[in-house]
Amino acid sequence: MAFKELVFSGVQPTGNLHLGNYLGAIVKFVALQQSYDCIYCVVDLHAITVWQDPAELPRAIREVTAAFLACGIDPKKHIVFNQSQVSGHAELAWIFNCVARLGWLNRMTQFKEKAGKDRENASVGLYAYPNLMAADILLYRATHVPVGEDQKQHVELARDIAQKFNNDFGASIRAHGFGDAFFPLPEPVITGEATRVMSLRDGAKKMSKSDPSDYSRINLTDDADAIAQKIRKAKTDPEPLPSEEAGLKSRPEADNLVGIYAALAGTTRAGVLKEFGNAQFSTFKTALVDLSVASLGPIGV
Ligand code: TYM
Repeated sequence: MAFKELVFSGVQPTGNLHLGNYLGAIVKFVALQQSYDCIYCVVDLHAITVWQDPAELPRAIREVTAAFLACGIDPKKHIVFNQSQVSGHAELAWIFNCVARLGWLNRMTQFKEKAGKDRENASVGLYAYPNLMAADILLYRATHVPVGEDQKQHVELARDIAQKFNNDFGASIRAHGFGDAFFPLPEPVITGEATRVMSLRDGAKKMSKSDPSDYSRINLTDDADAIAQKIRKAKTDPEPLPSEEAGLKSRPEADNLVGIYAALAGTTRAGVLKEFGNAQFSTFKTALVDLSVASLGPIGV
């Protein structure tokens, strides 16, 4: 059976959204609206896999929703909603808890990172979280899932779950007139120059909400002064920028800043280096500040 093309993605309401969320996910959410029907979800059931202050969570849900709209998601043409308002997410997640195998979840790198050394004390929800994410996507039989690189493994798990469900219940699926497959195999959409935005303080670490240093990230609510200060202080190396993309290899901080510029300008790393190859970081950073303020400034207002 051919499935109708449909986009689904989600963002957790935990802390401020940052440039990684914006370039890795939300910019693509906005672009995909042109060619697909889209569903965008504020995933609070995912957020509570780690402790959330009950007084703070409703505010964070509204803040992410506001960011969606400020970035250009059109709730009149597409669907924007809050995960916990639709009970089907938790219900299908339970079914998927019974389809997914322990061995599959044991391979999830994000659980290992998030649970850290204190694994015994992590919530069961944090461990089973990829099953809930599969339920989010497959509840609507979505076919395309725009995400940053860090979520790729979870979307692949959703494919494995869909496939196993289709196989295990094949006879019943056919008997009920659904053809060979009840669920589509959803595809991750991980495109562009900034699929993994790194910390501004350490090019080996992902930009994240949980980094204790606010200088590691640009928040979508930062004003022009904060954006300028963070970019000026961003870690670099002493060499000028290379003129070819190959010169960015083994220069993670340079690669990250050039990638951010490329994504914001809608060009490629090679395109950026055509303009800024052999430039000093001071010159490049000034241009990056201008571009970032022009792109992000209106979102934070
Ligand atoms: P979350 O809330 O951590 O992040 C939201 C989106 O931002 C992307 N992202 C990044 N992209 C590039 N560079 C970065 N440094 C960076 N940091 C975050 C994430 O890849 C994500 O696309 N499990 C998901 C939310 C979710 C979901 C879903 C996504 C729940 N159900 C169903 C798709 C489909 C998460 O925690 O994203």
